[in-house]
Amino acid sequence: MVSTPSLETRTLPFDAASVAEAARLIAMGQCVAVPTETVYGLAADATNGAAVAGIYATKGRPSFNPLIVHVPDLAAAEAIAEFDDTARDLAARYWPGPLTLVLPVRAESGIASLVTAGLSTIAIRCPAHPAMQALLKACGKPLAAPSANASGSISPTRAEHVARSLSGRVPLILDAGPCAVGLESTIVAVSEDGRLRLLRPGPVDLGLAVEEGGAIEAPGQLASHYAPSKPVRLNAGVAEADEWLIGFGVVLGDDCLSARGDLAEAASSLFDALHRADASDRARIAVAPVPSEGLGVAINDRLGRAAA
Ligand code: TXA
Ligand code: MG
Repeated sequence: MVSTPSLETRTLPFDAASVAEAARLIAMGQCVAVPTETVYGLAADATNGAAVAGIYATKGRPSFNPLIVHVPDLAAAEAIAEFDDTARDLAARYWPGPLTLVLPVRAESGIASLVTAGLSTIAIRCPAHPAMQALLKACGKPLAAPSANASGSISPTRAEHVARSLSGRVPLILDAGPCAVGLESTIVAVSEDGRLRLLRPGPVDLGLAVEEGGAIEAPGQLASHYAPSKPVRLNAGVAEADEWLIGFGVVLGDDCLSARGDLAEAASSLFDALHRADASDRARIAVAPVPSEGLGVAINDRLGRAAA
């Protein structure tokens, strides 16, 4: 489901001009490859659902795993997520740096629901690398960024790795040489009782053991994946009396993923639509057929889990 290679990929050395160009592309809703101290990330505006859908299309991710949101500092992080004393203490000790915190997302965060895959928590990190820091400041927006490689291939620690994996799919790669750390950030969830759960081991060692089933590298391993509380019926052409129909293309439902049958638009509205369906007065949810091509593969993966 990787998007067709059709773009010209430019690799530019990290400087003020290339950062300004990267920020311009991101403001247009595009993805840009940018180094962090861990690995190169594929960054897009985390508040723009269509731009986030572009990340999945570019990587050819077969499912919508939630993404890490990058911010320039703790103040920007606190505008998005709810920090308790434990979380603030971890941020004070390890930020900027290779530690990601999973925290409750604020209702008014402005983050696209595709970023969190509809979860009530968000993974957030403040990176140390000057290129990502400069880009965050130039954009003035939180940036969602998974590793800048096609799904299933190895994480890139050099601009050449990104080019090999995503050439023709990403318009710009900022090149700042090899990543100092070279390993994805440690991910820690801070529970409401202040307990820490290690979800992904990484460069920051907090002396915690990985939670059983906590590492979420493979699609669908996330135990807390958002699932509607109601039965879900797929490939529905018409709604039955007690069903809320989520439409797509020619199937106009109570709500519609994309009336013009656009898969990127459908991806960006998917989790919002599921939440609205769950909150409706109807006992069951039906969903119109979505073609299994391009982003439709990931949409159907997610719908399949919602219906399981
Ligand atoms: O080092 C890194 O963290 C790199 C660089 C580019 O910053 N980024 C990165 O992002 O690895 P990504 O999006 O590939 O990592 C996402 C991981 C997945 O394992 C995902 O399931 C987990 O973070 N994650 C995201 N949101 C979560 C949440 N709300 N709860 C639990 N896990 C979450
Ligand atoms: Mg990755």
